[in-house]
Amino acid sequence: MAHLWSGRFEGGPDAALFSFGASFGFDRRLFEDDVTGSLAWAEAIHAAGVLSAAELEAITRALHEILAAGADPAFFDAAAAKQDEDVHSFVERELIARVGDAGRRLHTGRSRNEQVSLDLRLYLKRRVPLLQNAIEALIRVLAGQAVAAGDAVMPSYTHLRRAQPVLVAHFFLAHCAALRRDHARLAALLAEIDELPLGSGAIAGTSYPVDVAALAARLGFSRVVLNSIDATGERDFVSSFLHGAALTMVHISRMAEDFILFTSEEFRFFELADTAATGSSLMPQKKNPDPLELVRGKSGRVIGRLAGWLATMKSLPIGYSKDLQEDKEAVFEAEDTLRGSIDAAATVIGGLTLNPHVTATAASGLLLATDVADYLVARGVPFRDAHEIVGALVRRLVRENRSFDSMTLDEWRAHSPLFEADVRDAITPAASVARKRTPQSTQPEAVAASLRELQAWLTKS
Ligand code: ARG
Repeated sequence: MAHLWSGRFEGGPDAALFSFGASFGFDRRLFEDDVTGSLAWAEAIHAAGVLSAAELEAITRALHEILAAGADPAFFDAAAAKQDEDVHSFVERELIARVGDAGRRLHTGRSRNEQVSLDLRLYLKRRVPLLQNAIEALIRVLAGQAVAAGDAVMPSYTHLRRAQPVLVAHFFLAHCAALRRDHARLAALLAEIDELPLGSGAIAGTSYPVDVAALAARLGFSRVVLNSIDATGERDFVSSFLHGAALTMVHISRMAEDFILFTSEEFRFFELADTAATGSSLMPQKKNPDPLELVRGKSGRVIGRLAGWLATMKSLPIGYSKDLQEDKEAVFEAEDTLRGSIDAAATVIGGLTLNPHVTATAASGLLLATDVADYLVARGVPFRDAHEIVGALVRRLVRENRSFDSMTLDEWRAHSPLFEADVRDAITPAASVARKRTPQSTQPEAVAASLRELQAWLTKS
């Protein structure tokens, strides 16, 4: 068959090289966006005097027919058999098959170099909000767990060593905070995408008087790109998307890791739902967190897509090069992996049950040492000295394999005469969390306020 560019050549291209270069196998995913762009372009070049009203009408009707035909996947398989190079060639061939010469005029003043940038922008404008919805759904699940946890406490960890008691709700809200940044990053990405590349031509601009501002408005863009050379050869919005996807994967991977640890026999803070775990073919006792492990594992794939894409871009001269075609598989794979991972994480986390006695026991003990030091500070001891006194006390308790709650008042006073009978009540996980004073802290009213703020955010978004 003839290709969009056959005129320049004596014969057809080498078949293997042609299929090496073809992108229709994956860029058919841009089909709907390609038709959207072509409908708008037809109107724009009609307004510029290139198409007659009758031609515009015929093209518009045929493009709608093509769009409707695309509802059946078999439509694309037939096209693949016809060896279309990419989705743009496919739509144009289908159009010409329906309207002949009018269809042959549609590409006037337009290049695939700008068309592909437009299509991918339109695609992401449609799809990124769906990812944002999925992130919101995951946040809703985490917020539900925060509510269900009530005033339960657990240890927090630094260096994966017990640090200080926190509310379990505070821990869930920590993961929500990261996801809200991911959500905001996608909103910033949508603003970055919001530029119309059409009018750039292949690189130098177009020779027809196309009203690009009107075309931008027609396609839902708030502005037009600054420079045609840049626009046809840049994909910064792809880099930003991959970065946003990779960072979100990093966050849900860390979340998965927390729950892999916290549902293990060693921690037993949470129990996995039977529906969210898998057994072992050999060891009958096993309840494995496979979906969480896959979420963690798949993060590597999306990080790899970002790194691979930046490597593809780094040596490209300004202007379009075919290397840019690599953008689509990177975007689609990152999108699918991210979406699948967010949804899996939401299902698994929604099914977790808390073991509040286990977390409370783990949250009491020597991790209250900072509270003991604060007790002395409240009685006038400089913090550095208090740290020293409590350090010696901890050293002794570790040696004797005991904890603060087993100490008599005399034993307390042997370390500092400032300890009074009230030290017993002051050194508990509940007193520790209640003592915190800042809005971002684990203090129960602060956590309740954060939860209310989060719920308000979920209601508006
Ligand atoms: N399939 C191509 C891509 O994805 C479309 C643009 C082709 N442009 C060209 N000059 N060969 O980038």
